[in-house]
Amino acid sequence: MNAVVSVQRNVRMTLRVNGEDFDALFAPYKTLLEVLREDLDLTGTKHGCELGECGACAVLLDGEPVLACLVLAVECEGRSIETVEGLARGSELHPLQSAFADLGGTQCGYCTPGILMTAKALLDREPDPGRERIREAISGNLCRCTGYQQIYESIEEGARRMREQSQ
Ligand code: FES
Ligand code: FES
Repeated sequence: MNAVVSVQRNVRMTLRVNGEDFDALFAPYKTLLEVLREDLDLTGTKHGCELGECGACAVLLDGEPVLACLVLAVECEGRSIETVEGLARGSELHPLQSAFADLGGTQCGYCTPGILMTAKALLDREPDPGRERIREAISGNLCRCTGYQQIYESIEEGARRMREQSQ
């Protein structure tokens, strides 16, 4: 009997990440998280549970937060992907990043990229959310370090700085 050999072909596609087109060649079963980190060298997005439970891998897809460990990269062609690497403008931090740095919203930092992206999506839609909305928005992002108080305060301060910038 002949052995059946299955050849998994790579796919080539252009992915638009942080406003830049990346030509990528990858196996079709790879998640967006794997392609970002392993093929595009964008390692700011963190690799956690890979089960959709920790939020460390959150990025924005067409402006909405998604868990990159649960999305196939092939589903992302032609869509806008935003990662933590796209937040700063040159050497100028995004207001959320500066607020996290100033208020201690980051300790070990592992959860921070996912929380920043999830918070950005909220604040882009709702510039002045209350504490409850913030709590609800990041309820899928686990942090083992901060106890969340500094994270909530950092997002509130980031929101205030974003509003100030947009005036
Ligand atoms: S790594 Fe994606 S949710 Fe944990
Ligand atoms: S700062 Fe360490 S997990 Fe959140």
